[in-house]
Amino acid sequence: MGTKSKTDKVDEVRKAAAHLNSEARTADQLMEGITLLLNKQMLKYNWVGFYMLEPGADPPTLVLGHYQGAMTPHTRIALNQGICGAAASSGKTVVVDDVTKDPRYLACSLETKSEIVVPVFVSGKVAGELDIDSHFPAAFASADRELVEYCAQLVGKRLENK
Ligand code: SME
Repeated sequence: MGTKSKTDKVDEVRKAAAHLNSEARTADQLMEGITLLLNKQMLKYNWVGFYMLEPGADPPTLVLGHYQGAMTPHTRIALNQGICGAAASSGKTVVVDDVTKDPRYLACSLETKSEIVVPVFVSGKVAGELDIDSHFPAAFASADRELVEYCAQLVGKRLENK
């Protein structure tokens, strides 16, 4: 990242996400592009993936979609499990600065220190979420949160217009 400030970097990546949105032909392509972009450009975003609610599943279940980073054992997550379940069931962004202190945390990698999970809304309802893990503690400040929420919104709008 050199001398570039965090704000400049976030701004640059936000513009790149907007560009991806204008180029992607489908919501699926956009989701894949966002995982690649965030994982490559944001150096502390070590695992980046989408979990989407399985259509018609009872009980509701989050299913792993596009992701970048190490393989995870958590490919299906119930809404009462993990930080992922908490974000999807509350419809709120969850930021955890130290995963070892959060009893909800489902471990994907021993290296993970902090996590952010942002719901994806489609027509006002949670349809899934964008999950990011970092090998660094407290990696997700307010600028990161805004960036990740922006990316989740792009996907939500795209899914609405399907
Ligand atoms: N840590 C998540 C599980 C998914 S992995 O991070 C990829 C959780 O606690 O829900």
